[in-house]
Amino acid sequence: MLCVILFLLLATVQGQNPPIPKMDEHRCLGSAWVVDRTRFRYSSNPVSKPSLMLVNGQYVYAFKTGIREGQTVHILAELDGGIKDLGRMEFNFLAGTPVIEDGTGADVMHLKFIRSKQILPPRTRPANDLYITANTLKNGKWMDQINMVRRFNGKYLFPLTITALADRFEIRAFGEFFFYYYYRLPLDYISFVNARGSDSRLNQIYIGGQRMEPPLRAVFPNGGIKPGFTLIIDGVARNSDFSIAFTDPENKFGIMLEIRVNFSKQTVILNSKIGKRWGQAVRGSYFPFKDKKAFDMEIRFFEKTLTVFVDTKEVATFDHRALPTYGEMSVEGLLHIRGITICEPQQWPKHAGDMYSGLLTKQTYSYSKDDS
Ligand SMILES: *[C@@H]1O[C@H](CO)[C@@H](O)[C@H](O)[C@H]1NC(C)=O
Repeated sequence: MLCVILFLLLATVQGQNPPIPKMDEHRCLGSAWVVDRTRFRYSSNPVSKPSLMLVNGQYVYAFKTGIREGQTVHILAELDGGIKDLGRMEFNFLAGTPVIEDGTGADVMHLKFIRSKQILPPRTRPANDLYITANTLKNGKWMDQINMVRRFNGKYLFPLTITALADRFEIRAFGEFFFYYYYRLPLDYISFVNARGSDSRLNQIYIGGQRMEPPLRAVFPNGGIKPGFTLIIDGVARNSDFSIAFTDPENKFGIMLEIRVNFSKQTVILNSKIGKRWGQAVRGSYFPFKDKKAFDMEIRFFEKTLTVFVDTKEVATFDHRALPTYGEMSVEGLLHIRGITICEPQQWPKHAGDMYSGLLTKQTYSYSKDDS
């Protein structure tokens, strides 16, 4: 009896001051530059592995964060085979408290995913359904629950993004649109996000980005992207062509790299135009984009080459044709950009100067030295 009381007491005492970590702002292994309105902001903390903690008697992954309109929460969960179902996970976007507590606080969005397990014949539905409920806790009372069923497209990994739009959350899974959840409480109520599950794990969670539309020119921070850096562009394709052109910090060489995405031809072509001459085109090994589907383009810069990945699959490798340093890029065409992140090499010393650098602007210009 005493043990139980002591345990409860300890749990309560611990629960009162849990060291709730701040949610990561990127998924880089070292420091990063993240978009912050019209500039890049230095974010010195490398990504951390989410860990379960005991908060007021509940085992949760808990994080401190606000959510600004236009930002996206990126989640990678694992729903991995239980007794009752194939894993369940819930997410809470909370005001004031890191976990739901009776009669206090508010849950701006409570999302729950249960992966179904088909036990009884006949198998009327495929075994990989996801039962989803969404709700809001307002003034200590749950509102009307929304129920949905969606297909679970993977094996056990569950990539989820939650983007804060003006009047609703947009929820995507596997890059594809899943559903909207209209705000029932204001977005700026949110101060904590937690995740809890059974037969499931949270592998990654971070918040960042902002919504941007081309034309967009990004002048990279701190003198540009060098070997060892990684550039990450999050976007949603729109069944329309787009291109991303890069030049050196002084725009001396013209287009050092252009990535041209052609939807009608289903091609990704990489090329350069140094001076007046187009170089040899390098064709992507496959076409990774799909109308309305979110993508995560990652460009890794090495000493002599760079490699473009989309959704972790390699698309093409390209030799540097002039300098190995890229000063800026301009994006043209139709697509929604949701975030740009620049990862610094893991071993780099911490940046000490201005925490803001670079530029994001709609004023693009052609890097072509001569269009003839
Ligand atoms: C894409 O391919 C089509 C068909 O060949 C062509 O007309 C169009 O100009 C191409 N778009 C770009 C941006 O190169």
